[in-house]
Amino acid sequence: MTAWHALVNVARMRKGESILVHAGAGGVGMAAIQIAHHLGAEVIASAGSHTKRALLETLGVKHVIDSRRGDFAEAVMELTNRRGVDVVLNALAAEAIPMGLSCLSEFGRFIEIGKRDIYQNSRIPLWNLRRNASFHVVAMDAVFSGDESLTRDMLGEIAELVEKRALTPLPFRSFAACRVDAAFRLMASGKHIGKVVVSFPEAFVPRQGEPLPPAFAIQPDGCYLITGAFGGFGKVLAQWLVKSGAKHLVLSSRSGASTPEAQAFVKSLENAGTEVRVVRADAGSEKDINALLAEVSAGKQPLRGVFHLAMVIDDAPLAALNRDRLRSVITPKAYGAWLLHKGTAHLKLDCFVMFSSVSSIFGNPAQGNYGAANSFLDSLAHHRHALGLPALTMNWGVLGGAGYVARNERVAEFLAKQGTYELSPGEVVSLLESSLAAGNTQVVAIRVDWAKWEAILPQRAGQSVARAHPLFSRRTGGWGPDQRLAP
Ligand SMILES: NC(=O)c1ccc[n+]([C@@H]2O[C@H](COP(=O)([O-])OP(=O)(O)OC[C@H]3O[C@@H](n4cnc5c(N)ncnc54)[C@H](OP(=O)(O)O)[C@@H]3O)[C@@H](O)[C@H]2O)c1
Repeated sequence: MTAWHALVNVARMRKGESILVHAGAGGVGMAAIQIAHHLGAEVIASAGSHTKRALLETLGVKHVIDSRRGDFAEAVMELTNRRGVDVVLNALAAEAIPMGLSCLSEFGRFIEIGKRDIYQNSRIPLWNLRRNASFHVVAMDAVFSGDESLTRDMLGEIAELVEKRALTPLPFRSFAACRVDAAFRLMASGKHIGKVVVSFPEAFVPRQGEPLPPAFAIQPDGCYLITGAFGGFGKVLAQWLVKSGAKHLVLSSRSGASTPEAQAFVKSLENAGTEVRVVRADAGSEKDINALLAEVSAGKQPLRGVFHLAMVIDDAPLAALNRDRLRSVITPKAYGAWLLHKGTAHLKLDCFVMFSSVSSIFGNPAQGNYGAANSFLDSLAHHRHALGLPALTMNWGVLGGAGYVARNERVAEFLAKQGTYELSPGEVVSLLESSLAAGNTQVVAIRVDWAKWEAILPQRAGQSVARAHPLFSRRTGGWGPDQRLAP
């Protein structure tokens, strides 16, 4: 509403006009850019980091300038053939105000949305306003507490445009209310993009209207399918499902419950009151997956959730990755996920979870095949999301306690040397649970010593790739060895 009121009601921007938006990657900035584009205006936006400037370019901003450059006015005059801009949307303080005024064109409007200089009663040099220019103040607190029809009209206009998708919601980073300190630190560091949101655990229920649907919950009268169920994480997952109230499980892998240990595991789940069906199936075989899904649908309970964990690892340097080694790793994971997707697309599932790995985000030495397979899972999750189907891909780092890495001490040592440490089974299930409840499509979960981790990644132009990576631009905290973070 700040951006709308400033551009539409106050500046009365028209098609073909130009605007300078400071802090274009911030919440108000991004909203102003969208609104300006919607009105047919040309935007010059400033941002303080390379990542933010790159983002603004992707938003179609015609000219992006560096806000850390002291002489932004000169840059604006150059870009406009010394004409200046029709509107300046300003939240910068002190000398930035006269500088902004100096880049106004004739009939230009300077819209002040910052508070500091107003409350400090600062002076405005009037010379810059001599050619029919004007200075306006936007104070939304006063708008909201004043005549309510203005607020109501604006909300109506904006809601209509959002509904028509002429305006899209802003990106945001959400912090639990108990971490409000971290939210403020992020804002103070100026590293945020879009909005910073503080959220409360209780779902917001509008006073008039329907309550929100409940967060994800396991249904006792539904059936849950796990592939790769007898591996380390399959078992952790099955135990979590049972603990969360699942009464019907189908556990699948190629060899099924073939060992005494696996049989004892099945028994322990049954003893907890859950019906367990074990189905042998190769996740990479269409025939087997069809038979598996037929077996599932032969049960009385409808399938409510799919957890795809089946995997084979066969690490090799790129030059040694032949067709067979690619196929053996990609088939059960990627093709298996595709078969499960196709075979269940018509069902009303609550969740479709794929265990992926950080190998598809950052790459891992000798895991070209595994990285590609996981990358497919990530894309499939977004594809399903676009189709309106439930989907979650979890890009796990190292899982501790059970599973492939726990069985392979040398792999664990190698990963620790890289700075990647284990997540405990308890952390894994709580992260999974919260990601399902939040309705996320993709979640990366790693515990990492950033200093070590950064050192193993390549350097470019004297800077580590990790630091320049846009994924980390919104990470809070430093790069020191004490910055081991949960995800
Ligand atoms: N462990 C980690 O640190 C880690 C890290 C990141 C991501 N992940 C992901 O988490 C998942 C589980 O990992 P994990 O450590 O629990 O693995 P795991 O202990 O090695 O278990 C793998 C399971 O997959 C089954 N499997 C292998 N090929 C199959 C096929 N063609 N069809 C059906 N099932 C097949 C295996 O049983 P059969 O041999 O009997 O078929 C086994 O039950 C994997 O998707 C993995 O990519 C693990």
